[in-house]
Amino acid sequence: MASVPSLASSVNQRVADALASALPEAGGADPLLRRSDRADFQANGILALAKKAKANPRELATTVVGSIPTGDLIADIEVSGPGFLNITVADRAIMETLAARAGDDRLGVPYSANAGTTVIDYAQPNVAKEMHVGHLRSAVIGAAMVEILEFTGEKVVRRHHIGDWGTQFGMLIQYLLEHPHELDHKSDAEVSGEEAMSNLNRLYKASRALFDSDEEFKTRARARVVDLQAGDEQTLAMWQRFVDESKIYFYSVFDKLDMDIQDPDVVGESGYNDMLVETCKLLEDSGVAVRSNGALCVFFDEYKGPDGNPTPLIVQKSDGGFGYAATDLSAIRDRVGNLKADTLLYVVDARQSLHFKMVFETARRAGWLNDEVKAVQLAFGTVLGKDGKPFKTREGETVRLVDLLDEAVDRATAVVREKDKERGFLSEQEIVENGVQVGIGAVKYADLSTSAARDYKFDLDQMVSLTGDTSVYIQYAYARLRSILRNAGDRSPVAHPELELAPAERALGLHLDQFGEVIAEAAAEHAPHKVAAYLYQLSSLCTTFYTECPVVKPEPELVVGENRLFLCDLTARTLTKGMSLLGIRTPERL
Ligand code: ARG
Repeated sequence: MASVPSLASSVNQRVADALASALPEAGGADPLLRRSDRADFQANGILALAKKAKANPRELATTVVGSIPTGDLIADIEVSGPGFLNITVADRAIMETLAARAGDDRLGVPYSANAGTTVIDYAQPNVAKEMHVGHLRSAVIGAAMVEILEFTGEKVVRRHHIGDWGTQFGMLIQYLLEHPHELDHKSDAEVSGEEAMSNLNRLYKASRALFDSDEEFKTRARARVVDLQAGDEQTLAMWQRFVDESKIYFYSVFDKLDMDIQDPDVVGESGYNDMLVETCKLLEDSGVAVRSNGALCVFFDEYKGPDGNPTPLIVQKSDGGFGYAATDLSAIRDRVGNLKADTLLYVVDARQSLHFKMVFETARRAGWLNDEVKAVQLAFGTVLGKDGKPFKTREGETVRLVDLLDEAVDRATAVVREKDKERGFLSEQEIVENGVQVGIGAVKYADLSTSAARDYKFDLDQMVSLTGDTSVYIQYAYARLRSILRNAGDRSPVAHPELELAPAERALGLHLDQFGEVIAEAAAEHAPHKVAAYLYQLSSLCTTFYTECPVVKPEPELVVGENRLFLCDLTARTLTKGMSLLGIRTPERL
């Protein structure tokens, strides 16, 4: 893949390099360059440097300014405040750097110098259960992280740790054994996700009712759990039918979400069954875990229950059963030992944070995690209803994810149709297709545009609004650029670095310049919302740009028009790349 020829990938980097060479004694210390309102950039690094050298910061800053030539890169540099540097870059530097980046299929975004292997645990619904908004968050945030990390050159292994094991299966399996035709499909025709889920719901309700009313069934169901754990063949075959039926449903929802989930990456809780006994033995033998009232527990000084007694992590219950923790500890051994991860990333609800703290700490004590391996929970907040309470139906039930997605698409289609009314530009087919891309994009964007840790309100009206921080606003900005480029006639996008730039062109150009840095930050901090914020700002700068700087009509001078078309083209490419990292499509005509 072509990398950027001769120039550093961004103006930001070029200025940082220039500052570093003006002060060789700083030994490459970070000049702390930031975008600024007063000039293009402000460098704050001199302060720390002066402190270290016991020098006067203003004097040091003045020396730096004196040794930096102004010209093709830096147009103006001055000392401000206690020793900041205010830097204005040359228009030429902006356009030249962007032009070099535009020639690269990665838009000049460099690969990370310290790329490694991340195993990411995301999109993990539970077998025989409906998916809800929590599963949506994990899937959406996780998928964006996968794309962002892979774009920086990280090797990413996906793990969908679905809930496919546990005592609840005893009841379901026993019921199915006694009513063997309940999961038969009427024809060979494909079963829809909806049907699969309704089959599972029906079975769940029926078996639950029997379990609660019939003592003998209850006993048989409990015995069935033992058979399942012992690996009895007939029992496992029934269990597999539940898993398969659920997968039909999961895949239909992921499909609706326009998300590519691959079967080999679905390694649920059951995938670690063979390791559980050994995991417990290793913990017990090393003394990391101890027996307490028959259960195998790990204790921590810092985690106490409300009564002041320590809350242990229970690795094995007193009846011999293994739980969630044993599975997660085994998964760590697999992901570090076999998959060679140097980062383990868990995109899981913040309400499971205590579990992960304990699991990570246990794994460290056992030596399964060491300083070479980072384990991080990308914890996300709760999805709230408009009333600010956890999102529920009016009847107090969990809202079905599928219903939400369908409603989002309906609303989005109405918005697209309404907006197109005056123009009559789109065909009915385009309206329907765009409605899907706008609706699903809106749901994803709402999830990705605030930092994951925060709770957010699920408000469809706000999500599909044409103004404000929404995906549809960005999608319209993109479509507008594409339409300008289509209507450019025989003019083509060509950068002309010799031109003086208008303020809106500079602002857009300097923001385009930051794409690579934003990607690097979002990847390193596991913060996809930084990409969303960047794209929103890019769209709004580009809206100002094409309002203030005519591109096609009234026709500007040839070189000016070409240069503006170039900015349109690079902005469009950056928007569509950035949105694709977030899993959101950008229709060409909207
Ligand atoms: N299935 C779980 C749930 O629905 C999430 C699994 C998270 N991943 C893990 N390795 N524990 O809450």
